[in-house]
Amino acid sequence: MQTQFNPTQNYTIIIFGATGDLTKRKLLPSFYHQFHEGNMPKNFKIIAFARRPYSTDDYLDFINDVFMENLEHPSDLLDDFFSHVTYLQGDVTQKEAYDTLKAHLTKVEEIPSHRLYYLATAPQLYEPIITHLGDYCLHVSDDLMRNIVIEKPFGQNLASAEKLNALLHQYFKEEQIFRIDHYLGKETAQNILFFRFANSIFEPLWNRRYIDSVHIDVAESGTIHYRAGYYDKAGIFRDMFQNHLLQLLTLIAMEPPANFEASSLQYEKMKVLQSLRPADPDYITFGQYEGYLDAPGVAENSRTPTYALVPAYVDNWRWQGVPFFLRSGKALKEKTSRIMIEFRCPPHLLFDKNTGFEPNKIVIQIQPNEGIQLRFETKKPNSPQQTVTTSMDFNYQTGLKDMRLPTAYERLLLDALLGDTSLFTHAREIELSWKFIDPINDYWEKETEQEPMRYTPGTM
Ligand code: BG6
Repeated sequence: MQTQFNPTQNYTIIIFGATGDLTKRKLLPSFYHQFHEGNMPKNFKIIAFARRPYSTDDYLDFINDVFMENLEHPSDLLDDFFSHVTYLQGDVTQKEAYDTLKAHLTKVEEIPSHRLYYLATAPQLYEPIITHLGDYCLHVSDDLMRNIVIEKPFGQNLASAEKLNALLHQYFKEEQIFRIDHYLGKETAQNILFFRFANSIFEPLWNRRYIDSVHIDVAESGTIHYRAGYYDKAGIFRDMFQNHLLQLLTLIAMEPPANFEASSLQYEKMKVLQSLRPADPDYITFGQYEGYLDAPGVAENSRTPTYALVPAYVDNWRWQGVPFFLRSGKALKEKTSRIMIEFRCPPHLLFDKNTGFEPNKIVIQIQPNEGIQLRFETKKPNSPQQTVTTSMDFNYQTGLKDMRLPTAYERLLLDALLGDTSLFTHAREIELSWKFIDPINDYWEKETEQEPMRYTPGTM
């Protein structure tokens, strides 16, 4: 696994969809943060590719406000950073755009360079871009990297995901393909594996013998805002469950990998997804926040769920019988992502059970207030038999206060440039996730006319 850039080599990043929100809010600020910290390769270029007829200066003006809002580092190196960026105008559905791209690459790359193609466009443009990159032989090189990053949503269901994988594999090898799930780039999500496998005290308890249930909650206070065009067709299962929640589940449930190589990690995650028992719709809660139907672009009487609670089971030796409660929703009381591992009660309770006795818990707080908490019972002072729940807390802000938590995209972008797919999703993982999600969507969209449970925004 390569962890450092080769200083004698040049790198080119080509962003398709450069005028979009993702590029302005996440990609360019993340590259800047890494540049500021000295982590970018010595020689790199960013080609911002989109349809609007801009010059590079126009483009930089256009992105300025949103880009600046998302900056966490001082702006002292901005001019230097932007000297690496050029804007290129083209319609990615047209062949001519790739002639222009080829000519531009020849102009800006001083020597033959590694390339990273970033598809930050609407998903319907993935196919023309991949096909054209292939037809123009932009996907191959004897000795230089030609990697491609694909944003979510990766398909709408299993069939479309398989089709997209097949198209990618027509041109790119699996190790060149970076299917991004930004939850895997979150420092605290990565820490799950370190917590489990760098400590010997937790792993012996990490199984059905000691764990009663696992609760994976990704709650958001925001509504769907202006995204109805996408969201009303997608719904919470395609938007959050197929990717983020199932990925968190794999990190909690996977067996220890043989090493930290991408292939070992992905293989163990696949085994978890393969062991998922089909969900029983009778036990799923489908919710929709009040007011959703009034959002511009939402279909009349839409039943699209904005909230769901799914009990999932991993049918293998380690997890048999342990429910994983997956829950996510929009317009809830607060934005918080956390995983709570609830342990079994002691086999025989000696103490007063009626005083708020709680089973032990480990809470992994993914965001905000990132940290890990171990909750356990303590004797209540000055009482004969009562217990009180107390906790041992690790919090990044206090425990590691001099260390900045990079944003999810920062880690992932660097890894994609380095060619390390460890924190990206394998073709098979995507397909197995859809295999679990499709029957839930089919049930909701085709088999039942049940209305979603309506909930008041701002509640939990
Ligand atoms: C995205 C979803 O993938 O994740 C959004 O499309 C959601 O609907 C977002 O709001 C949540 O990400 P985060 O990092 O803010 O928790």
